[in-house]
Amino acid sequence: MRRRVPLRLAAFASGRGSNLAAILEKIDTGKLDAQVVLVLSNNSDAGALDIARQHGIPAMHISRKQFNDDQTYENALLTALADSQTELVILAGYMKKIPVSIVRTFQGRMLNIHPALLPSFGGQGLYGHFVHEAVLAFGCKVSGVTVHLVDAQYDTGAPVMQRSVPVLEEDTAETLAARILKEEHQIYAEAIQLFAEGRVRLDGRRTKILPPEFEKQP
Ligand code: GAR
Repeated sequence: MRRRVPLRLAAFASGRGSNLAAILEKIDTGKLDAQVVLVLSNNSDAGALDIARQHGIPAMHISRKQFNDDQTYENALLTALADSQTELVILAGYMKKIPVSIVRTFQGRMLNIHPALLPSFGGQGLYGHFVHEAVLAFGCKVSGVTVHLVDAQYDTGAPVMQRSVPVLEEDTAETLAARILKEEHQIYAEAIQLFAEGRVRLDGRRTKILPPEFEKQP
């Protein structure tokens, strides 16, 4: 059933924020029943923070380096998420590991997007252009995108959506990244919309997508 109240999203992003921008565009054009209530970055220069400010969305720079210990750092993250009444956390090019306490608090309610078909080409050190370089070095004919639930390890949570993208013979890491990014900008909003519609169930490691419910006619 379509929500009457938009799903409240907090986006974590470390870099330029093109996935965040794509999600905001899908919201603005009525394709995603959500609202970005907080953008959080470990990097004060992140383009994603500028995008948030341009949209009037609270933008916070929170980095472990600002705190004396893990506990106060984690409390700062948890407080920001609680204060904004976040329902779903989306990692959009976030290059830091999420502390376990936050993963637990948002178990089943935290998504990541990864620019490859997991479990291939994921894990620590495989992010951004490193992923595409590794795919080309292996000689893969297909790569793609994975949107997955976040667990305590890098890139190991259950997939929610995956989509393949062909690797072309003339591809460089840059051209492959660009073709995959185009797909990322579609698939992330589609996956988030499934959560907005309450259609994602976890059965062991497998997510099950429930069929859309149609609003009953009066
Ligand atoms: C995206 O390609 C995203 O999939 C990737 O970083 C890029 C961020 O771009 N994330 C990872 O590699 C995470 N393991 P963006 O800042 O333009 O959204």
